[in-house]
Amino acid sequence: MNNIIILGAQWGDEGKGKVVDLLAERFDIVTRYQGGHNAGHTVFVGDRKFVLKLIPSGILRGKKAVIGNGVVIDPGALLDEIRTLAAVGIGVERLLSISNRAHVIFPFHRLVEGASENRENRTAIGTTSRGIGPCYEDKIARRGIRVADLLDRTNFRALYASLAEDKQTFARAFQIDGHIDYDRIREEYEQFGERIRGMVCDTSRLLNEAIRDGRRILFEGAQGTMLDVDHGTYPFVTSSSAAAGGACTGSGVAPTRIGGVLGVSKAYTTRVGGGPFPTEDNGPGGERIRKAGKEFGAVTGRPRRCGWFDVPLLKYTAAVNGFDSIVVTKLDVLDEFDEVKVCTGYRLNGRVTDEVPATSKELESIEPVYETLRGWKAPTRGATSHGALPDAARRYLDYLAAQVGVEIGCISTGPERNETIIVPGSRFESLIG
Ligand code: GDP
Ligand code: IMO
Ligand code: MG
Repeated sequence: MNNIIILGAQWGDEGKGKVVDLLAERFDIVTRYQGGHNAGHTVFVGDRKFVLKLIPSGILRGKKAVIGNGVVIDPGALLDEIRTLAAVGIGVERLLSISNRAHVIFPFHRLVEGASENRENRTAIGTTSRGIGPCYEDKIARRGIRVADLLDRTNFRALYASLAEDKQTFARAFQIDGHIDYDRIREEYEQFGERIRGMVCDTSRLLNEAIRDGRRILFEGAQGTMLDVDHGTYPFVTSSSAAAGGACTGSGVAPTRIGGVLGVSKAYTTRVGGGPFPTEDNGPGGERIRKAGKEFGAVTGRPRRCGWFDVPLLKYTAAVNGFDSIVVTKLDVLDEFDEVKVCTGYRLNGRVTDEVPATSKELESIEPVYETLRGWKAPTRGATSHGALPDAARRYLDYLAAQVGVEIGCISTGPERNETIIVPGSRFESLIG
C-alpha cells in the first residue's frame, strides 16, 4: 500500500507545500481532502515562488490533482488560481479533477463570518475571512450546496432560493447590514458551474480505481492537527478535519488503503490567529524566530505568533494521527541561536503533565517546563546530508525524536526542494519508496 498522508503536526504553515512538492514526483495523484482557500502552501520551483491555496501542490510537477469531497470550494478563488497557474504554462484543466460532492462557498458565507467575528463581547477566532466556517456550517446543517448541484440548473435554483432565504432571515435577525444581490450571485455561480463542469466527477471513484490499478496517491493535508475541529484547540480551530482521519472522509478512500502518515513540524512552533499557544515567546526570542523564519502568513500576510518546540503537543498529534515519521522543517531558522528551548512538559494546577488539556482556559494557564539545549551557531541552510549537520543540531533533532517517541525521517534546511535531508534507513525513506 503505497498511499500516504502528509499533514501538519502543529497549527499549520509547517512547510507541507514544500514536502508535498518534494515527494510528488514519486506519486501519480496528489489530493486535497479538507479545508479550502484558507490554506497557503508555498512551493519554490527554481526561483519561482507559488502559493497554492485550493489546488494540490503536486500540480506544479505535472501530477494529476484532485480536490476531494471534504474540501469547500470558492469557485471564484479556484478560477483565479487556475488562471494564475495557466499564466505560467500549467494546464490545470487537463490535470485537475474536482469532487462533485464538495461544498460550495458563496459570498454571503464571508459576510456571515465577518458579522460573527466582529460581534461585540466575542473573542474573535482570527479566521482567514474566506467564509470557510459558515460553509461547513451549512454542510453539517444539511442545507449546503454542492458542486454537483451547481451543474444542474433547475435543482440549483431551488436549493439556492432556499439557502438565500435562510441567509436573509439570519441577516434580519442579527441586523447585519450590507446589501447582497442574491440574483446576481446566482447568475455568477451558474456561470462558474459551466466553467468547471469539465473537471467535475466522482473523485472517490477516480481515486479508488487508480488505487486498484496500482497508482500511488499522496494526500495533502491543509492547516494542522491543532486546528482540526475535533482534536485542535477548540474553538480556536478551523471547521474541518485536518487530522489523518479526515483524509478518508474527505476523499472517499478507506483507511485500509492508506499505507502511512507523515507529520510535518517546524523545528519550533508558530500559530496565526487567536487561541492558546503554550510555548509562545512574546519576548526577543519569538521576535528573532519571526524575523529569521520570515514568519508572516502566506494567505493573509499576518505576522505569525512564534515560540518553541512543544513535545507534549507533538506527542499528542503523533498519537491522533499515528505518525510513522516526522519531517522537521526550518531547522536553518535556528542557526544563529546561542540556546534553543524545548518544552518537555506542562505545569498545570500544580503538577507536571504531558497531557494536552481540552479547554482553552486550561491551555492558557499552562506553564511550560523547558529544557534548554545548546545552539549550533553554524549554518545548516541547504544541508543535504545528516553528516553535514553540526553536532549540536543533530543532538537537538535526536533529543526531539527521543522525547516525542517518533523518528525524524526527513529534515528541511531551506525552502527549496533540494534543501532537504532524507535520513538513510528511516521509515520515511521506506514509505516514500
Ligand atoms: P504550509 O502551509 O504548511 O505549506 O507552509 P507555508 O507555505 O504557509 O509556510 C512555510 C514557509 O516556510 C514557506 O514560506 C516556505 O517557503 C518556508 N519553508 C519551508 N521549509 C523551509 C525550511 O526548511 N527552511 C526555511 N528557511 N524556510 C522553509
Ligand atoms: P495552511 O494549510 C495556518 C487558522 C486561521 C484561524 C483559524 C480558523 O497554510 O497550513 P479559518 O479561516 O480556517 O476558519 O480560520 O485557522 N488557519 C490557518 N493557520 N495555516 C493555515 O493553512 C490555516 N488555515 C486556517 O488563522 O486561526
Ligand atoms: Mg500555509
